[in-house]
Amino acid sequence: MNKQTDAFMGNLRGSTPDAAADVAAIGTPLPHESATLHVSGEAIYTDDIPELAGTLHAALGLSRHAHARIASLDLTAVRNAPGVVAVLTAADIPGENNCGPVLHDDPILADGAVLYLGQPVFAVVAETHEHARRAASLAKSDEVVRYEPLEPVLTVAAAKANKQYVLPPLHLTRGTPASKIASAPHRLQRTFEVGGQEQFYLEGQIAYALPKEMDGMLVHSSTQHPSEMQQVVAHMLGWPTHNVVCECRRMGGGFGGKESQSALFACVAALAAQQLHRPVKLRADRDDDFLITGKRHDALYQYEAGFDEAGRILGARVEIALRAGYSADLSGAVATRAVCHFDNAYYLSDVDIVALACKTNTQSNTAFRGFGGPQGALVMEVMIDDIARELGLDPLDVRLANYYGIGERDVTPYGQRVEDNILAPLTEELLASSDYRARRAARAAFNAKSPVLKRGIAITPVKFGISFNVPFLNQAGALVHVYKDGSVLVNHGGTEMGQGLNTKVAQVVAGELGLALSRVRVTAADTSKVANTSATAASTGSDLNGKAAEAAARTIRERLAALAAKTLGGNAEDVRFEHGSVISNGGAMPFAQLVNAAYLARIQLWSDGFYATPKVHWDAKTLTGHPFYYFAYGAAVSEVVVDTLTGEWKLVRADVLHDAGQSINPAIDLGQVEGGFIQGMGWLTTEELWWNRDGRLMTHAPSTYKIPAVSDTPAAFNVRLYRNENAEPTVFRSKAVGEPPLLLPFSVFLAIRDAIAAAAPEVKSAPPLRAPATPEAILDALEARETQRDANAASPAPSNSTTATAA
Ligand code: MTE
Ligand code: HPA
Ligand code: MOS
Repeated sequence: MNKQTDAFMGNLRGSTPDAAADVAAIGTPLPHESATLHVSGEAIYTDDIPELAGTLHAALGLSRHAHARIASLDLTAVRNAPGVVAVLTAADIPGENNCGPVLHDDPILADGAVLYLGQPVFAVVAETHEHARRAASLAKSDEVVRYEPLEPVLTVAAAKANKQYVLPPLHLTRGTPASKIASAPHRLQRTFEVGGQEQFYLEGQIAYALPKEMDGMLVHSSTQHPSEMQQVVAHMLGWPTHNVVCECRRMGGGFGGKESQSALFACVAALAAQQLHRPVKLRADRDDDFLITGKRHDALYQYEAGFDEAGRILGARVEIALRAGYSADLSGAVATRAVCHFDNAYYLSDVDIVALACKTNTQSNTAFRGFGGPQGALVMEVMIDDIARELGLDPLDVRLANYYGIGERDVTPYGQRVEDNILAPLTEELLASSDYRARRAARAAFNAKSPVLKRGIAITPVKFGISFNVPFLNQAGALVHVYKDGSVLVNHGGTEMGQGLNTKVAQVVAGELGLALSRVRVTAADTSKVANTSATAASTGSDLNGKAAEAAARTIRERLAALAAKTLGGNAEDVRFEHGSVISNGGAMPFAQLVNAAYLARIQLWSDGFYATPKVHWDAKTLTGHPFYYFAYGAAVSEVVVDTLTGEWKLVRADVLHDAGQSINPAIDLGQVEGGFIQGMGWLTTEELWWNRDGRLMTHAPSTYKIPAVSDTPAAFNVRLYRNENAEPTVFRSKAVGEPPLLLPFSVFLAIRDAIAAAAPEVKSAPPLRAPATPEAILDALEARETQRDANAASPAPSNSTTATAA
């Protein structure tokens, strides 16, 4: 711990109230505002809120079929089960039976038909959680629910073949890609696939609803989007929005999974509370959470590229078929972000991008860190790797040949100019610090002597667009209260999910008022304080809410400065707020003293603040505009060793250089980069979702669904922040950091591919490795490669052919 951190920790423990007074609040690697609470177990999550007397517990009865008509529903046995107080169905919903965030295609409780296996059909309300769960499990009985099964569509390929989409296909073309590909000296055409990913927040979905007087409802919800929870609950009950308050102090992780899909849980808890006039808690068990909620969209790709000798892409086309699941949810915006991230770091003069949101009888896929961006960019990185292997080049050199330029070759396929490009210097710096070229040569020497263990190395860059790609969502509000003793309370529209948003916002306000962080307290997100907030998502939490809080604090500061100038002399504009003091005209007074004087002078000591991101606009018809305020960049070098007999592998070293602009809190930002990297690595390697032929998700618990563990962190994990300032005037010139690092471990996947390639170096084309690169996938790719080697030996291919197709 450094000295500043040490001082702050002391302060957190309450030992020395002003020990942190000299610490500049902003730009300092202070610990998370709840760090000690997280590790001591004192942090209050929704399930830790002391239950009111009379609290009941709800559980959901889930469908057993992926697609069926509900022929009959007889809930007598469920009602008669021990401890049961009530059983609710769609018929009990007074308002609209819908919790869809965009389209109205998301029933809260199934009505007439079920569209996926795991869909909630009824809700049980009982005296205890255990009673509710036992009664809900009667949903498995034929006597309770009888189904007339219909044909389910369970795969992306089947949905695509049926042209079955939740939203119309997206199509973006620039230039003449078909003719550029046709006339290119080299071409390739391939398919690729990547799996989905469960958010696996440590705290599952949960809501606790408390009825209030005059048709009021307070809903404690573990949600990234309190305003939407407020709105869907009100809508479901047929009430005006102002009857409902939604509060969230913190989540034990959201990762996108609580951007929209906390709604079903909030609605069921609130429905039960409204019907029974008692507080009701609904906490989904992990297995139910897996079965009910949507995940990252898995994708099937078809792509094609034409390129020159240097690997420069002359034309490219891709079709990205995403699994949307049974309803639209956020899939439109996810697919749009996929379209806008296919380019990743590369200029594509002539390009054609299609994204399909395929409708299947599976969970409704939703936001997950990166929000379609990873699915868009991954296939580009795979394609570049393919091109390099066809040409026998270092994939790094093909990447560099295609990087966005500065002042030329700098317009994205969707028409936004890349104005803040730092790809080249960032890559240079990482190449030097990671010693990439020498290690690439060393891995070849190692592989030449090692028949079973093969090493692979890869570098991949990231360019990630920051802003909600729906422009109106880019707004935020905050409230700052200064009390008479000079202590400060902040409320803003964002939610805390572990990412450190509250810490950063407190740092911004403390910085603005020249106070130690201990003088600023951030309260729970609460829809009765800031209205009509956006989800804390798209990595924009600190950009938006930091700016809004800064504006509110600035208003108060200006009022105080005027009084200070009057009291101490000097000009209001020259008054400084530093180290807990207010300084003007050579004189100084403690902040608290000035505040008290302001109170006595009847000066308003609280203020709101509002922020709307400038510059962003988007034409959803043409898929062009300026959807992102700016871009965040990064790059990573990963080295793996693969056991070619078992398919097991290990990440031995990763070097990461990531751009967080001028970081508000380097400690928190490094944590985000490390966490995002490991989470993205899990997506591409160990995390595999598997549905059986009935559409039942079989990997619905940690026993069968493997997220990375601490032991999967490489022994050498060199993570650094790139020294930079945002070119745009964001708060403290920082950059959003929540999602972009999830794309860094593309380098892990391609390093595994590199190691597999070394197992049969005679074969020129890239190994057909699917993602996630589980040991099975690795063995399949090794086998395919050996088969290809043997086929090549039997009938050598003409040397000028570079067209390859792989499954
Ligand atoms: N970090 C933690 N610890 N827990 C989370 O749930 N969610 C990620 C990212 N980092 C998440 C996280 C996602 S999906 C987003 S969009 C951002 O945090 C949201 O927070 P921010 O906008 O404040 O960065
Ligand atoms: N990210 C997250 N959520 C969103 C977005 C986005 O870009 N657009 C609309 N909702
Ligand atoms: Mo993050 S996927 O935008 O919640």
